Amino acid sequence: MAFIIKPLSGIKTTVTIPPDKSISHRALLMASLCKGKTVIKPFLRSNDTLATLDCMKRLGISAELRDDNTLIVEGKGMLYLPPVPTVNLYARESGTTMRILSGILAGQKFDVLFDAEPSLARRPMKRIVEPLRKMGANISGSPSASRLAEGSPRRTPRGEPFKDNIFPPLVIRPVKHLKGKTFKLEIASAQVKSAILFASLYADKKTTVIEPFHSRDHTERMLKLFKAKIKIAGRKVTCRPVKKLCTPGKIFIPADFSSAAFLIVLALILKKSAVTIKNVNINPTRCGLLNVLKRMGAKIKIVNKRAAYEPYADIIAEASRLKGATVKREEIPLMIDEIPILCVAAAFAQGITRIEGIKELRIKETDRIASMVSNLRGAGVDIADKPDGKDDWMMIVKGKESYDGAHFVSHHDHRTAMSMIVFAMACGSGSSIDDLSCIDKSFPEFVATVSNLYTLRNPVGVGHARPSKK
Ligand code: S3P
Repeated sequence: MAFIIKPLSGIKTTVTIPPDKSISHRALLMASLCKGKTVIKPFLRSNDTLATLDCMKRLGISAELRDDNTLIVEGKGMLYLPPVPTVNLYARESGTTMRILSGILAGQKFDVLFDAEPSLARRPMKRIVEPLRKMGANISGSPSASRLAEGSPRRTPRGEPFKDNIFPPLVIRPVKHLKGKTFKLEIASAQVKSAILFASLYADKKTTVIEPFHSRDHTERMLKLFKAKIKIAGRKVTCRPVKKLCTPGKIFIPADFSSAAFLIVLALILKKSAVTIKNVNINPTRCGLLNVLKRMGAKIKIVNKRAAYEPYADIIAEASRLKGATVKREEIPLMIDEIPILCVAAAFAQGITRIEGIKELRIKETDRIASMVSNLRGAGVDIADKPDGKDDWMMIVKGKESYDGAHFVSHHDHRTAMSMIVFAMACGSGSSIDDLSCIDKSFPEFVATVSNLYTLRNPVGVGHARPSKK
């Protein structure tokens, strides 16, 4: 079944964006490790964060998600007390759940079998298994991605098959103690850094993680908020073991910048439009896209800035004449999830946009380089991907002012789907897309939110799911 997307212009509105996914996962995990009650409000209700919530319940944590998205967590301390000796956990399609929770599980005193949906079962886990093993963890996985999801990349950017890696399901068994170590990471990955930092809470001495470039620092901020012993010096984070963590009691989670990014770019590329988004997380390790868009000439204002454990503000984006820009590899981790929507902005910018150092995109929910190149090229965008140095990849987009619609394929990737819907809304004629269900991973209200923009603008209620004639 396909869904139609009609062109739109002239929107002037304020939209509500759901709470941050990365922070929701981390707030719940940290709350689960404290004795006593933590109230998280609002908590993101999406497939990925519900996967973490489900894992917590299986681990014996009492956590109640109310209708108003308030999550009340009753932790029991650093060691979980599950109701069964071997706990079966299921991460669904959530890479963050599997990768960062594994760091905590490495320090627990029971056996865990940690499985996932086929789409996650083909994603590499060696990146966390290896450092956790170096810390003494007893963690293993499957040597082959036996349950490859349809359409998954079977090759790395340089064409090698995905071999010599470790895939879900993971088996984690207790060890006497974990060892504190120093890690110099080869890739800037917040998930890897977080798995190590969570495990470091259970280690015998301090652990240090040094990243090649800054990646999102939500775990570090959350550890500080819960009074862990953490020190940050540039790209170097040092964390010491603790016997207990202290809950702040209440945690406010701002709107997810990665979800806001779709509405920001929509406002920039739709004619005569302006969108205001309230209470958006503006953590600099997450908002790299803002800097790039500003360099592209975007009219974006950040107002009403508020300081908290995570800073947040209101963002106003207005229709803009964009021009191409170069994005350097060190900027990529600060906007790792926004490359698909940046490609959409670049498609409407005058001149060339070069996005360097993006090989990590190959191993997201789908190969996002391939999904964006094929979708945009199919709609007439001049876009190419090619090797970038020895072991990396880049994309080059040459934009123009307008496009006709086309049929798009989500590849079961939420960010590809939302990016193509935004692109389609800015096209001169109607488009269609194969699937919307994947969007529930991070932003279940996305289709309703953009559909509502049509009803605001004119009486034809379009944009929502309707079977296509294509
Ligand atoms: C995330 C980190 C990023 C990002 C993912 C969420 C996190 O992954 O792509 O959507 O919450 O830590 P990497 O650490 O693999 O870059």
